[in-house]
Amino acid sequence: MADTSNTIKHVASPLARQTLQNRDLTRPVAGVQPIRLLPWLQVVKIGGRSIMDRGAEAILPIVDELRKLLPEHRLLILTGAGIRARHLYGVGLDLGLPVGSLAPLAASEAGQNGHILAALLAADGVSYVEHPTIASQLAIHLAAARAVVGSAFPPYHHHEFPTSRIPPHRADTGAFLLADALGAAGLTIVEDVDGVYDRDPNGAEGDRAQLLRDTSVAELSAQSGPLPFDRALLEVMATARHIERVQVINGLVPGRLSAALRGEHVGTLVRTAAHPA
Ligand SMILES: Nc1ncnc2c1ncn2[C@@H]1O[C@H](COP(=O)(O)OP(=O)(O)OP(=O)(O)O)[C@@H](O)[C@H]1O
Ligand SMILES: [Mg+2]
Repeated sequence: MADTSNTIKHVASPLARQTLQNRDLTRPVAGVQPIRLLPWLQVVKIGGRSIMDRGAEAILPIVDELRKLLPEHRLLILTGAGIRARHLYGVGLDLGLPVGSLAPLAASEAGQNGHILAALLAADGVSYVEHPTIASQLAIHLAAARAVVGSAFPPYHHHEFPTSRIPPHRADTGAFLLADALGAAGLTIVEDVDGVYDRDPNGAEGDRAQLLRDTSVAELSAQSGPLPFDRALLEVMATARHIERVQVINGLVPGRLSAALRGEHVGTLVRTAAHPA
């Protein structure tokens, strides 16, 4: 019998003989721009607190708008966690639960909101899909249906970074990571305010808040005030590969989501650091 061990040991790989820790050595191989897997996909993140927690009054008009968008776009609709996760953080933190225990619990609340939205769109062929399905079978699902719904939380779960007691990677970060990894056409973040302001428009000095119509990850990183999305989103935007801008819009105003998906500037554009070829 032929001895094949010698050839197996010498499988040619440009990375075989070097550490993966040295960027200068890996750059010739790892420096290429990744391909766009689903370049026609529009990702929409629906706020848990800002939309879903308001119930029928806010959800039904958004569902109606999403339904009308289906012939025009193929959508990955991702939902945030909202008030139930905030309650859970309160109870869990009081009990001293570590961040890695809180993250999957909060993620399941985001999933519940997704199930609600998917149920309302079921008659149009829309279903809720779990993370492993999004990871490996999104294309076939979107070949069969115009949209699917998922949880916007990234599945860091027990691997959540212990940088703070509240999970830093929440729904906005998760939605962006997916949109960028899939090379989607865009990401729209649906909130209950007209976009990103220079301070919280519902905060103590809210009457002085100015809407930032066009801003960037660099500009927002330089200010420490509150934002209508996870601060960790700024970190992932800074290393984005495909998504050049995200639009934050007010989902309580009918027609804004449709206009945003058509490329109109109806909220705040946040420019990322991505420079696709
Ligand atoms: N700089 C800011 N610009 C605009 N809104 C801000 C800003 N800072 C804080 N906010 C507040 O953020 C609120 C939205 O809250 P939040 O982002 O927690 O909701 P959500 O996105 O629906 O939640 P979830 O992450 O659970 O999906 C707005 O109603 C506004 O009061
Ligand atoms: Mg938000």
